Amino acid sequence: MKLKEAMTTRRSVRRFKADALNAGQVEELIEMAVTAPSASNKQPWRFFVTDDRSIIDRMAEEVQQAVDRIVQHVPSDYMEILQAYGSYFVRFQAAPVVIVAAYRELVVLSNLVDDELGQEDTRRIAEMEAHSGLASTAMAVQNLLLYAHSIELGASCMSGPLVAEDKIRSIMGIPESWRIAVLVPIGYPDEDPEPVGRKPTAAVTRWVRGE
Ligand SMILES: Cc1cc2nc3c(=O)[nH]c(=O)nc-3n(C[C@H](O)[C@H](O)[C@H](O)COP(=O)(O)O)c2cc1C
Repeated sequence: MKLKEAMTTRRSVRRFKADALNAGQVEELIEMAVTAPSASNKQPWRFFVTDDRSIIDRMAEEVQQAVDRIVQHVPSDYMEILQAYGSYFVRFQAAPVVIVAAYRELVVLSNLVDDELGQEDTRRIAEMEAHSGLASTAMAVQNLLLYAHSIELGASCMSGPLVAEDKIRSIMGIPESWRIAVLVPIGYPDEDPEPVGRKPTAAVTRWVRGE
């Protein structure tokens, strides 16, 4: 499959056949994910993988509980809408494999500067380094989604489950020093989703030029 075709035909897949994936298939996906660029080539990502049904179910239960708690705190008119929206946070439960993509903040500049650097610059460096870890990992995840699609697997990228990030970290045994970027459910697709519209290019593009 050509790259352009892969990019234009990829969809977020949320329904999966029961068929399992083997470790080799998952490792190939990760091999393709990590061809992504990363800030200072620090590759600040880790991919925590599970195909254990009881672990996936426990994560989904924690996310559902968090959604139920949150729904109690929105205006009553919105509860039903929020419950439906929240149901999209647990869609990973249907997948035979879930990859939890985690990232660490970069420690490059912050390790080099002396203590005399002003607070404002120090704060910006810290923000830039945290941001770089997440941006790099998002690129790896997009590679993974595209490659999965090109070999006829279905997958999606999910940040909704992070309403229970601490619980997911604990269930998956992810060390405190790693933040979770997204969950990626993967399997053989059991749906062929319609394309979801995109804003026109002109509406999202701003050319900036001097006088
Ligand atoms: C950062 C990120 C977080 C997302 N989180 C969720 C999620 O929690 N649940 C879900 O069902 N889909 C999630 N999605 C998938 C989007 O809903 C989907 O990409 C969008 O509707 C466009 O559809 P498409 O991917 O099929 O083109 C997420 C996508 C991204 C990039």
